[in-house]
Amino acid sequence: MVKIAFNSALAQKALGKVELVSEKDPETASVYNHESSTGRCLLTLLGLAFILTGLIVGGACVYRYFTPKKLYHGAMHFTEMDNEDVREPYYLPRIDEEVEIRDNIAIINVPTPRFGEGDPAYILHDFQRKLTAYLDLNMRTCFVIPLNTSVVLPPQDLMDLFMQLMSGSYKTYLVHEDLVVTERIDDVAQLGFYIYHLCDGKETYRMQRRSELMGIQKRSAEDCFTIRHFENKFVTATKICKP
Ligand SMILES: *[C@@H]1O[C@H](CO)[C@@H](O)[C@H](O)[C@H]1NC(C)=O
Repeated sequence: MVKIAFNSALAQKALGKVELVSEKDPETASVYNHESSTGRCLLTLLGLAFILTGLIVGGACVYRYFTPKKLYHGAMHFTEMDNEDVREPYYLPRIDEEVEIRDNIAIINVPTPRFGEGDPAYILHDFQRKLTAYLDLNMRTCFVIPLNTSVVLPPQDLMDLFMQLMSGSYKTYLVHEDLVVTERIDDVAQLGFYIYHLCDGKETYRMQRRSELMGIQKRSAEDCFTIRHFENKFVTATKICKP
């Protein structure tokens, strides 16, 4: 239709020498014109598709990186396991935590306890690599140990626990664990992306449970500190000692 209209309009207006040109040109011009309008239309659609894709991908990126991450907050009151002393829960020591759970990791922020002892720390559980890293914020030092799956709940269960904690206070007991630094790790990159990001630029050590260590340990010369935290329905006091 475009072609015909173009031709007839040209035929009516074209005279003499122009007609010679118009004999061929309108044909090619109109064909060209027709194709170009289809082409332009396709290009516009393609452009729109690109813009839409860009907006969707961009939106997802903005959502992922610029909105505040979903943090769960939870608190537990605890008593020593063998302590039969019955006091009001109000006076019991309390551990607060903020946790971020995504993909296959959980990052727990343990602030300085308001009551009782303990260092503030970041604890990262990498469920894929099966490693746990403690970043002690007083010492700015990282300590790494294999993930203890009998203590640390898997991500979904951990999320459920924090959901439960958000709806009320929780009273539980305290478990002690005794860890000893064994060696310094120079290449933090071998510990995977997440621990690398937590521990890069900090002194990083490997640890072992004291019960697994062979030989006599000279405890007197050790430099020890404790991080109190939970990633299950009980509180763990992790005592870390550096020889
Ligand atoms: C995990 O922790 C529990 C409680 O502290 C302990 O009894 C157990 O030996 C640990 N398991 C490993 C593999 O370290």
